[in-house]
Amino acid sequence: MISYRAATREDLPTLFSIEAELYPIDAWSLDIFDSEFDGIPDTRYYVVAESDEIIGYAGLFSPLAGEVADIQTMTVVKCEQGKGIGKALLKLLVIEALRREAPDVLLEVREDNASAIGLYQRAGFEEISRRKNYYAPGIHAIIMAAPSHLLKAWLTR
Ligand SMILES: CC(C)(COP(=O)(O)OP(=O)(O)OC[C@H]1O[C@@H](n2cnc3c(N)ncnc32)[C@H](O)[C@@H]1OP(=O)(O)O)[C@@H](O)C(=O)NCCC(=O)NCCS
Repeated sequence: MISYRAATREDLPTLFSIEAELYPIDAWSLDIFDSEFDGIPDTRYYVVAESDEIIGYAGLFSPLAGEVADIQTMTVVKCEQGKGIGKALLKLLVIEALRREAPDVLLEVREDNASAIGLYQRAGFEEISRRKNYYAPGIHAIIMAAPSHLLKAWLTR
């Protein structure tokens, strides 16, 4: 059975090992993950598990009521991708950002990441800018944003 819950520091080693496997070039270090937990309550991380085994995670930075929120990360292990789990994680982040009255939600995504870009576009995100060499030399980022009214509409679809 698949379940979603808030992440805890005890999950960090598992998140880090999934991260290292999925992002060979630009994986977050254990220290970065740890500092995200220092950021609570401004940050909020979720994990998705199947029979207690973590198969994905997602994180949000949403500092104060009324401020723009940022999606920090979204990851589903390879063998579980394409089954709707990423979409469910994104919904959790969006629900939390809207609860904190974020007027917009922003994110960065690799320009060659078609599946992630497709997921975000369906939710209402649009490209607003690009950052060259953001992930590594030659690996650029697209910055996407979605206003709260489009995200609310997506949640009800
Ligand atoms: C990106 C990622 C989180 C998506 O999670 P997922 O569980 O595979 O995605 P889902 O199965 O929930 O699919 C979500 C939507 O994306 C769409 N999608 C999937 N692949 C697509 C593609 N190649 N092009 C366009 N849309 C695509 C699906 O159709 C689905 O939309 P729908 O339900 O409205 O039809 C996951 O693939 C992943 O972890 N990838 C590696 C890490 C990564 O790149 N993370 C994103 C960092 S910004």
